[in-house]
Amino acid sequence: MLKKQVYMHTIGCQMNVYDSDQIVKGLKSLEYETASSMDRADLIILNTCAIREKAQQKAYSFLGRLAKLKRKKPDLIIGVGGCVAQQEGEKILTRMPHLDFVFGTRAIGRLPGIVRQVASQGSRIVDVEMSADIDEFESKFSSMETGKPTRFVTIMRGCDNYCAYCVVPYVRGQELSRNPEKIIQEIRALVASGVREVTLLGQNVNSYGLKEGLCSFPELLKKVNDIKGIKRIRFTTSHPKDLSEDLMGAFAELEKLCNHIHLPVQSGSNRILKRMNRKYTREGYLEKVALLRHHQPDIAVTSDFIVGFPGETEDDFKKTLDMIHRVQYDGLFAFKYSGRPSAPSVHMSDKVPEREKRDRLQELFRLQERIAIQKNQALVNTTQEILVDGLSRNKSEINISSGLEQVQWTGRTTTNKIVNFSREKDNDSGNDDYTGMMVQIKIEKAFPHSLWGRPVYIEPEALDLKGESYAA
Ligand code: SAH
Ligand code: SF4
Ligand code: F3S
Repeated sequence: MLKKQVYMHTIGCQMNVYDSDQIVKGLKSLEYETASSMDRADLIILNTCAIREKAQQKAYSFLGRLAKLKRKKPDLIIGVGGCVAQQEGEKILTRMPHLDFVFGTRAIGRLPGIVRQVASQGSRIVDVEMSADIDEFESKFSSMETGKPTRFVTIMRGCDNYCAYCVVPYVRGQELSRNPEKIIQEIRALVASGVREVTLLGQNVNSYGLKEGLCSFPELLKKVNDIKGIKRIRFTTSHPKDLSEDLMGAFAELEKLCNHIHLPVQSGSNRILKRMNRKYTREGYLEKVALLRHHQPDIAVTSDFIVGFPGETEDDFKKTLDMIHRVQYDGLFAFKYSGRPSAPSVHMSDKVPEREKRDRLQELFRLQERIAIQKNQALVNTTQEILVDGLSRNKSEINISSGLEQVQWTGRTTTNKIVNFSREKDNDSGNDDYTGMMVQIKIEKAFPHSLWGRPVYIEPEALDLKGESYAA
């Protein structure tokens, strides 16, 4: 029998990427395979993000475009999940008559049942129940084969921090940590399928396990570090208020833990941090960064910033620039403040005009660009080890002198810097797939967001291990 095809489209953070994988895995039980294009799909699912107005608009315009497809193909089933689905529920079905079902952020485990019902009865369904037990649905869908060397693993869901601007606690629910044994099992299965690096995900990994009395986050890291076959461990995100010295110590202690921390500060002004309900001060944050660098001197530090939070004055913004200058971040994400209907800051007065926000964002990026290029330039002529993610988007070109095809590869250093390199395609041996290999690169050029270099050593062990399974 011909299998049905599902097309999954994801907007939003790494957690949504993980959830989308879970959704696709879950649908395999209903004999759905991944569609190569949207036109071929029998089922289209959009996983959405509500963090900023723009992300939400993206979701609606994607869904709007599907109306035409549905008219051409009336049997097509269209579903929408994720944070906008959780926030809007039934309203989405009312607004868009061509949609069949809406499922919330804790309904992923129930999705096969929903799809079955829509397919057999043609009913329109809304399931935004927050009640699902976290491990109940995680364990239903265990490992899945993958060609990718790096994967995300969600270790906790939801958030209890209620930052004044943020929708996450409302759309993802209360913080819940997964059982460590289930996490380890899942990572072992991923390693057995060829994965070499995992990124552990949570809105605030520092509070992992505390509420449930499970192991602490540094203890969980140690367990992951002990898994045979795993080469690298990353995690995100760390809330500065809960960053412990135990976790700082883990960077030096655990050899597989990558030398990078994402420590979002949001603002450099105490007045704004207070209004944001972030529960730390700029001085406290700077002290933690200094202590972290004392434990691990060459650690890369990255951050998130919001510009134009209600009430942010020019002076507050200068303090944010000063924070960037003092910390010398390796990279950052920055966003214009976006009022969200469910987040309390939407009711705050003294909104910052859009133009002001745009100008501040540009100024912030200009400063960071100067810092990043300086930091990256310092790496020229050093040798860095990278894990190769795969072919880079720039594809291939012909080397004029040799006439051979040059293929461009991309990978990351332990400090999470992107490094690209090119190799001549070796058509004879067929041994020219570097995906998942650890490669030593002599850095030759620096750009603000990436590095370019030449391979000087390719781990021979990687060649032996490729394609083999090596579960612990
Ligand atoms: N849990 C993480 C953040 C998750 S959201 C933490 O606490 O750091 C990712 C980033 O989106 C945030 O760090 C913040 O910089 C940004 N963000 C969240 N809500 C926003 C809003 N309403 N407007 C603009 N940016 C926002
Ligand atoms: Fe949002 Fe704050 Fe929770 Fe991060 S910690 S997800 S910014 S409420
Ligand atoms: Fe967006 Fe939801 Fe993630 S709002 S950032 S997809 S938790």
